[in-house]
Amino acid sequence: MRPPRGGGGFRGRGDGGRGGRGRGGGGGGRGFGDSGRGSAMRGRGGGRGGGRGDRGGRGRGGRGGRGGGGMKGGSKVVIEPHRHDGVFIAKGKEDALVTKNMVPGEAVYNEKRISVQNEDGTKVEYRIWNPFRSKLAAAILGGVDEIWIKPGARVLYLGAASGTTVSHVSDIVGPNGVVYAVEFSHRSGRDLVNMAKKRTNVIPIIEDARHPAKYRMLVGMVDVIFSDVAQPDQARILALNASYFLKSGGHFVISIKANCIDSTVPAEAVFAQEVKKLQAEQFKPSEQVTLEPFERDHACVVGGYRMPKKQKNAS
Ligand SMILES: C[S@@+](CC[C@H](N)C(=O)[O-])C[C@H]1O[C@@H](n2cnc3c(N)ncnc32)[C@H](O)[C@@H]1O
Repeated sequence: MRPPRGGGGFRGRGDGGRGGRGRGGGGGGRGFGDSGRGSAMRGRGGGRGGGRGDRGGRGRGGRGGRGGGGMKGGSKVVIEPHRHDGVFIAKGKEDALVTKNMVPGEAVYNEKRISVQNEDGTKVEYRIWNPFRSKLAAAILGGVDEIWIKPGARVLYLGAASGTTVSHVSDIVGPNGVVYAVEFSHRSGRDLVNMAKKRTNVIPIIEDARHPAKYRMLVGMVDVIFSDVAQPDQARILALNASYFLKSGGHFVISIKANCIDSTVPAEAVFAQEVKKLQAEQFKPSEQVTLEPFERDHACVVGGYRMPKKQKNAS
C-alpha cells in the first residue's frame, strides 16, 4: 500500500482537475463556495462553526455567466470536470466541488445549486458538495487517487444516514448506475426513503448492515462498496457485505473514525490496525488519506477485493 497521505492540513492538496493532481485546489484560504458548516471552508483554522448553513438561493452562473448563491454573487462560474469522473469543480471567486444534479430544481439537504447554460441554450444544474458534511467529498479534496464510484457504477453504500452523501453518489453514477443505500436508523431512514422517491437510481434499505442476508434479495452484485458506519466492527461489516455482494476484482472505500474503534491509542495506530483487519479479509488496501481538516482523526482507505493474481511474465 502506498504510504498514507494527507494529515498535514489541507493546503495545496488537490481537488485538481482531470489530468493532474492539481495543487491548491483545497483549503488554505481558497474556500469552497458554500456557506455551510465551516463557513467558506477555509481549511484548518478557517473555522468550523458558522452553522450548518447550506441555505441560500440558487446560483445562477453558467459558463462565463454570473455566479450567484453559493458562488458568491457576481463572480463568473465555470464548470470543469474533476479528475474523478462524474465529479466537477465550479470555478468562480471561490472554487467548489459539485456534482451534476440528477433531479434539477431539487436540493436534498438545502445545499446550493448552480445552473449553467450550455452553448445550445440548455441548462445543466450542479449541486455544491460540502466536504464538512461528506467524508467522500473530504477524501476527494484530500487527494485520494481513486474512488471507483463513477458514471454507470453499481455501488453498495453502508451507513447511508439521511442520504446527504448518497445523493451525490447518485449524481455521480447517474441514470445507468445504482446505489443500494443501507441504513438501520429508522429516523434517518425516513429522509433517505423520501430522497430515493425522486432519485430512481437509489434503492434505500432500512436494515442492519451486520445482517446482509436480510437484504440479499434487494441487492445485486456491485462494483464498489462505500462504508461509513462508524462502528468498532466496521471492517467485519464491510467483509460480510463484500462476501455477499462485491464482485471479485471490485473495490471498497471505507471511512474510519479512529475513536469509534479505540480511543486509547493514537489515530494512526487505529488506522494501521484496521488496514491489517482488511488485509485478513481478502481486501487489498492501496491508499489511505486522512480527512483533515474536515474531520479530525478520520481516514479513508481505498482498495480492491479478491484481486486477481498478477501474471508472471513467461520469458
Ligand atoms: C457517520 S454516519 C454516516 C453519514 C453518511 N455516510 C453521510 O455522509 O451522509 C453513520 C451512519 O451509519 C449508520 N449505521 C451504523 N451502524 C449501522 C449498521 N450496523 N447498519 C446500518 N447502518 C448503520 C448510523 O445510523 C449512521 O446513520
